[in-house]
Amino acid sequence: MSAFLELRDVSKRFGGVLALDDISIAIARGGVHGLVGENGAGKSTLGKIIAGEYKPDAGELLLEGEAVHYARPREALAQGITYVAQELSLVPARSVFENVLLGSERTRFGFLRDGLARERYDEAAERLGFGLDPRMLVGRLSVADQQKVELMRAIARRARMIVMDEPTAALSPHETERLLEVVRRLAAGGTTIVFVSHFLREVLSVCDDVTVLKDGRHVMTVPAATTTADQLVVAMIGRQLEGSYPEKQMPASDSPIVFKASGVRLPRATAGIDLEVRRGEILGLAGLVGSGRTELCRALFGLERSAGEFHVDGEPRSLSSPREAIAAGIAMLPESRRDQGLVMRRPIRDNVTLAHLDRFGAGGFIRRGDERAAVGEVLAQVGVDSGRNQGNVVNLSGGNQQRVLFAKWLLDTPKLLIADEPTRGVDVGAKRAIYDLLVQLAAKGMAIILVSSEVEEVLGLAHRVAVMRHGQIVGELRGPDIGKEAVMRVAFGSDAASAAA
Ligand SMILES: Nc1ncnc2c1ncn2[C@@H]1O[C@H](COP(=O)(O)OP(=O)(O)OP(=O)(O)O)[C@@H](O)[C@H]1O
Ligand SMILES: [Mg+2]
Repeated sequence: MSAFLELRDVSKRFGGVLALDDISIAIARGGVHGLVGENGAGKSTLGKIIAGEYKPDAGELLLEGEAVHYARPREALAQGITYVAQELSLVPARSVFENVLLGSERTRFGFLRDGLARERYDEAAERLGFGLDPRMLVGRLSVADQQKVELMRAIARRARMIVMDEPTAALSPHETERLLEVVRRLAAGGTTIVFVSHFLREVLSVCDDVTVLKDGRHVMTVPAATTTADQLVVAMIGRQLEGSYPEKQMPASDSPIVFKASGVRLPRATAGIDLEVRRGEILGLAGLVGSGRTELCRALFGLERSAGEFHVDGEPRSLSSPREAIAAGIAMLPESRRDQGLVMRRPIRDNVTLAHLDRFGAGGFIRRGDERAAVGEVLAQVGVDSGRNQGNVVNLSGGNQQRVLFAKWLLDTPKLLIADEPTRGVDVGAKRAIYDLLVQLAAKGMAIILVSSEVEEVLGLAHRVAVMRHGQIVGELRGPDIGKEAVMRVAFGSDAASAAA
């Protein structure tokens, strides 16, 4: 296979950070080229250079042997190269249909006529099989559905090369399988794919070649067939990983109930939800995408209007706004860092202290020096090193933004921590660090509600798993060894006994 795209000695610097350091790789035509590395290794930067979003400071790109210089993404798109962003880049006030066709319009085909636009849309919809309503406003979709719109857009553009930056991070296992199948078919049809992912299993199953980056440098490019996940991990983080999950320490059975909710009614649900969490307990919420896990989390944090009664430490509490929830000792790590949780155009430090103004600012009691020390400590705990991570949060890599979000709540010690997808976009090494943190927090007495679309993650960490379907809790499993099959049976509703739980 000849190289479709070649990078020669490409470097990119952002202020004091050398994001890419003299990278040379060749990407074969009609192949799937994997790109892996720790958070901040330079994967997204490389993807954006390929797609014309960034200009390299040094080095060049050769497209089918010819040097190319893109000043903006549209120029790369005109050559058939498109990028599916890790951080969503849709127009919230436009419909799914319009977003999918964005960029197809003015490219190689002139303006799309109505009929043609419809055809393009239907083709992308059919290939990916996501079943979204084309008229729906994108701003009203969940993160997972927005990710699907991004992918449909890339397909509708009929690109010759698609850079997919963590395309499966928000997809369910079933949707992921389907996407991988589409990727294989696209490649078989001659489309060249660059596939960025932290899921090494996916990378190995779909890619022909895999490139490993570390701290902006090229470590190796190897055929996927001759490498293993362990080898990739060692190349990425420079050491072997220990076991995947920390050992479970079950909370004492007489541990007091910290949080109790009754009659929480989610939109579209026909009955209310009752749940309680004890001191030191990690309650996992399982269920298929759309089963109501995120909605429930949002309701408990006062982000969603919902009926229901709440008790914290036995005291009745109103939770009709995040302010009330925080005052009651509840913290939430939201699913989407972009529109909840982080202020993109403020420094890392401010973001960590933002929820803690009482402690550090407003009252004026705590000195700047104490704040610096405390923030430095939590950032170190989550592994955001201040050398490669500077400036505003918007400049951080996706995974490092997630870590900052985590640090924000570590600074405080809430009674209840609601963690919705705490490891989304985080690299394999840091995942284990976040698991350890969650377990430590629980051991110190925090009650935790954990949501993850990786069932293994919920099973590996939770002391008790509540399974959701159609906005209700339909079953509960507990103990040190909860099986995936059992959870899935309840989630799919194929377990008759579940209704009784
Ligand atoms: N626009 C920017 N301004 C300043 N620094 C940036 C910018 N974009 C990226 N960086 C820095 O460049 C480095 C590489 O970031 P990049 O986003 O490419 O990492 P990544 O490998 O995609 O990580 P992740 O797995 O977390 O998504 C990081 O140190 C990041 O903070
Ligand atoms: Mg990235």
